[in-house]
Amino acid sequence: MNVGTPSAFLSPAPAGSALQAQGLRFGYGKQGAIFDAVSLQVRPREIVALLGGSGCGKSTLLRVLAGLEQPAAGEVRFLGEPLRSPHPRAALVFQQASLLPWLDVRGNVRFGLDFAHQPKAGRKALDARVAQAIEAVGLAGREHAFPAQLSGGMAQRVALARALAREPALLFADEPFSALDAITRAEMQNLLVELVHRWHAATLLVTHDIDEAVLVADRILLMGRGAQDQPAGIVREWTVDIPRPRDAHPAATTALRLDILAALRSLRHAPDDIALPASAS
Ligand SMILES: Nc1ncnc2c1ncn2[C@@H]1O[C@H](COP(=O)(O)OP(=O)(O)OP(=O)(O)O)[C@@H](O)[C@H]1O
Ligand SMILES: [Mg+2]
Repeated sequence: MNVGTPSAFLSPAPAGSALQAQGLRFGYGKQGAIFDAVSLQVRPREIVALLGGSGCGKSTLLRVLAGLEQPAAGEVRFLGEPLRSPHPRAALVFQQASLLPWLDVRGNVRFGLDFAHQPKAGRKALDARVAQAIEAVGLAGREHAFPAQLSGGMAQRVALARALAREPALLFADEPFSALDAITRAEMQNLLVELVHRWHAATLLVTHDIDEAVLVADRILLMGRGAQDQPAGIVREWTVDIPRPRDAHPAATTALRLDILAALRSLRHAPDDIALPASAS
C-alpha cells in the first residue's frame, strides 16, 4: 500500500475547493513526523470523513487543517487562500461540547460572534442567526437553559448551533458524537447531514467509527501507517454515492463497510480499536 507519498488516487482539485492541503508533514517538538505527504481536499458542500485508528494522527491533522498548528512542510489553502491561522469562516466541534457554564444556551451560541476577527454584522442580524441555529438543532424553547441542565446530546446540539451561527464555509468536527449513546448518536448523525446540507457547509468529520463514516460521508479518507515506524498518510479514498437515507440501502452500505474493513486489515499495523460494524465482526 502506498503510504507516506502523495496519493495517485486523489482526484485533482477543482478551482472551488473549500479546503485544500498539499504535502503536509507535522511532528510535535523533536519527535519524528506523525504524518507526512498528506494531500487532500474538501469541495464546497461536501462531507468528507477522515477515518483511522486511535493515535494515527487524525486530530493532529485536523488541527493543522484548521490553522491551529503550523505544518513542518506543505500548505493548507482555505477558500483558495493560504491559511496561517484559524479562519473566521471555519467552525470546530469536538467530542466535548465545551460550553461556558455561566452562559445559557443562547449566550453560548452567541458567544464569540462579535469578536473582532469575525465578519461584521449588525446586532439584529446576529440575534437572528443565533435564533435560527437554535431552532435548527431542535432547541427552540430551551434558549435560557444552562449547560448543567442539558443532557450530553443536547449539549452537542448547542455546540453544533454555535458552529452554524458562524455561517461556516467549512465545519471541522472531531469525533463529535462518540461520547453519546447509540440512539442519540444516530439522531445526531442524521441531524448533521441535514444541517450541513441546509447551511451549505462543507464538513470534515474525524471519526474512528466505520458505520458513522458510511452513513454520513460523501467521501471517506482512510488514514494510517504502512509500518509502525513510518509517519501516517492517507492510504485509501472512497466516494460514497449511496442515496440517503443510507440505512434504506443495506446491501450497498454493507458492501462498503466490508471494503473499508478489508483495507484496514491490509494495513500491516491495522488499528485494533477501530469501531468495526456488527455485520463484519
Ligand atoms: N500535544 C501533543 N504533544 C505531543 N504529542 C502529541 C500531542 N497530541 C498528540 N500527540 C501524539 O500524536 C499522535 C497522534 O495523536 P492524535 O491525537 O492526533 O491521534 P488521533 O488519531 O486523533 O487519536 P484518537 O482516535 O485516539 O483521538 C499520538 O501518538 C499522540 O500521542
Ligand atoms: Mg483524536
